[in-house]
Amino acid sequence: MNAMSESILDIPRASGDPCIMVIFGATGDLTKRKLIPALYNLAKAKLLSRKFALIGTAFDSFTDESFRQQLAQDIRTYAMGEVDDKVWAWLEKRIYFLQGDFRDENFYWKLRELCYSVGGKNAIDDNYCYYLATAPTFFGEIIRQLGNSGMAKEESGHWRRVIIEKPFGHDLESARTLNMEIREVLKERQIYRIDHYLGKETVQNIMVFRFSNSIFEPIWNRRYIDHVQITAAEEVGVERRGAYYENAGAMRDMVPNHLFQLLSLIAMEPPISFEADAVRDEQTKVLRAVQTLTPEDVLSMTARGQYHESSVDGVSLTGYRAEEKVARDSKTETFVAMKLLIDNWRWADVPFYLRTGKRMAGRTTEIVIQFRRPPMVLFRNTGIGEQIQSNRLVIHLQPHEGISLEFDAKMPGPLMKLGVVKMDFDYEDYFGATSSTGYERLLHDCMTGDATLFQRADMVEAGWSLIQPILDVWKALPPRSFPNYAAGSWGPKESEELLERDKRQWVNRVVPKIR
Ligand code: BG6
Repeated sequence: MNAMSESILDIPRASGDPCIMVIFGATGDLTKRKLIPALYNLAKAKLLSRKFALIGTAFDSFTDESFRQQLAQDIRTYAMGEVDDKVWAWLEKRIYFLQGDFRDENFYWKLRELCYSVGGKNAIDDNYCYYLATAPTFFGEIIRQLGNSGMAKEESGHWRRVIIEKPFGHDLESARTLNMEIREVLKERQIYRIDHYLGKETVQNIMVFRFSNSIFEPIWNRRYIDHVQITAAEEVGVERRGAYYENAGAMRDMVPNHLFQLLSLIAMEPPISFEADAVRDEQTKVLRAVQTLTPEDVLSMTARGQYHESSVDGVSLTGYRAEEKVARDSKTETFVAMKLLIDNWRWADVPFYLRTGKRMAGRTTEIVIQFRRPPMVLFRNTGIGEQIQSNRLVIHLQPHEGISLEFDAKMPGPLMKLGVVKMDFDYEDYFGATSSTGYERLLHDCMTGDATLFQRADMVEAGWSLIQPILDVWKALPPRSFPNYAAGSWGPKESEELLERDKRQWVNRVVPKIR
């Protein structure tokens, strides 16, 4: 059955505004793996303006021709489906390259000239989307230089927008400083702080699920919900990103951005509209309502871990300290778990347990909403009270996207026996497979000026404010037990203990990659 009804899903979307997109750091992984395939998908879906051009910039030396050739090869690897030659040819001839040093002011004058000539050649209006896909150390510098060279100024109804990749800051202070620096040049409405989790269908669907159905919202509160678990478990290790990861660690890499996005969408109050600021106001409000952890709380409500080598099904998995560009005595955490409480009427006393880690037992990103157990009166002295399980609503993000509801049912037979059954909704079954990278929606939104799915300065700072006390205590008390969990497991025992103290358990589920 294909139950796609005519609702929000069928609203026809306009193509993005005519514009030139400039990618800073265009020879990196992000461009070839995500941005170019996403632009290609947009072009194919006719969601990219016919008046569009792309300028890649980097330290590496390429010509327009060699850059196009390189991308033509890459798209065949990363397109997630058959490449339509006609669409690619259309896009390819709109791609240009400028080599240079982002710290050199002359580079920006050259870029400005190139933008004018590319704009003239392709009859593109004066709209620019600058994509900062560089190391974070360049973010402030590039924006300052764009300002100095007049390239950030919006004139005569034309826009200039800047997409900034994560990590946005390294801690609360650096995030604040970066926000201040960029606001000297740009207005908040020109800034698009990207979090690729918001490009995922299921993440966007959380709002639709909660607010366009009437059956869930009445039970979405402390009266019915026992607790919430948010898990982002990765099977892979740090791969080739050891140098970055050593400084970031699991907490900075995943929590203030991805996990807090999920938390805020699950916990926020209904916004008064789907306007960018209405949604972001509510997300920020709920993040501000999360209780800040005291140093004592940090000890009892958080857990950290680092993986050591192990062997799973005869395959040996390297320990973190043996990974490329990682210190042999590294104290960087590759796993983090925490319990958070939200001080408001909806959520008081409902714990939100969050965890994320590398080299875990499987790739599973999901949100578990566990409901309270029903009163036992009916089943008293029947022997089945103990069989009653709590209902669970699970929002699956990875590896498959969907939602399932678990509830009790009587097992067939003469005796009263209960079993847990599931109602499953799977995105792919209902809507078919997509070749989306997750960046299409975000790029398109930027080109149409919709910032709903991007982080605002106050959200970013609210996120950092919550984890700063944890970072401070962790820094003062370096971990003594690292490495403390086996690669291929569900994390350290401290993570299990975190829930056991509350008489609860993590839902550990390895989902088969191929169904
Ligand atoms: C990135 C992190 O932001 O998100 C990575 O830097 C992590 O370390 C990745 O692997 C996870 O994204 P996804 O979409 O694979 O869950």
